[in-house]
Amino acid sequence: MKIVAALLSVTLLALLLLTPACAPGDGQKAAAEKTEVAPPPVPVEIPAQVKETLKNSVKMLGGTLKGHLVAALDEKGTLGALEFCGSQAQTLTGEASTDEVFIHRVSLRLRNPANQPSDFERAQLERFEALNAEGKLPEGAFIAHKDGERDAAYFFKPLMMGKPCLLCHGDPAGIEPEVLARLQELYPTDEAVGFAEGDLRGAFVARTYLN
Ligand code: HEC
Repeated sequence: MKIVAALLSVTLLALLLLTPACAPGDGQKAAAEKTEVAPPPVPVEIPAQVKETLKNSVKMLGGTLKGHLVAALDEKGTLGALEFCGSQAQTLTGEASTDEVFIHRVSLRLRNPANQPSDFERAQLERFEALNAEGKLPEGAFIAHKDGERDAAYFFKPLMMGKPCLLCHGDPAGIEPEVLARLQELYPTDEAVGFAEGDLRGAFVARTYLN
């Protein structure tokens, strides 16, 4: 944040210094134009309680999915776990949403087309991707956003590739052949292989409305 603030103040300073030089004598006109421009919207504050609710719903769904996945891998092996993921992950995710909080998983490289991000979500994922490349990925991000007429509060939680994830999302050459074949059968447009440990796989997104 400090860096952003510093950059902003440097940019502002540069603008202040440059403007008179670029447009000598135009000061009055600029001032007149300025009054017509609407003031920037006041950023909406997300109340602490709302943040807590969003965070909890991600924590719960994350725990549920991971618990089921680990158990399935343990009991049924990768192919069996794949059948579980294919049939249950969407259902469990759908059931995690309430009247108050909508939650889902999104990714820039999709396996299941149902997990397509919105344009707004895509932009956040791209930001996460850039931050991860710099080693500066946050644990999560709260973002206030206007969804049409309504103010929405979002929580984005990065989903990282750990070692067990690579069984079904890693380099195709390292995936068990029967698992790879089943993946291709179930998801003909699968883009979610070829990941390495530490890659950003996607994010949990929880959303609620503030008004
Ligand atoms: C046993 C195979 C398997 C393993 C292991 C696995 N996944 Fe997946 N993953 C799938 C399948 C199948 C889907 C598509 C079904 C769904 O969840 O919607 C999927 C979908 C996803 C999605 C939703 C986005 C999309 O592309 O559809 C994310 C995010 C994800 N996996 C992350 C992970 C993470 C993180 C791990 C490790 C903790 C992991 N996966 C381990 C099989 C697996």
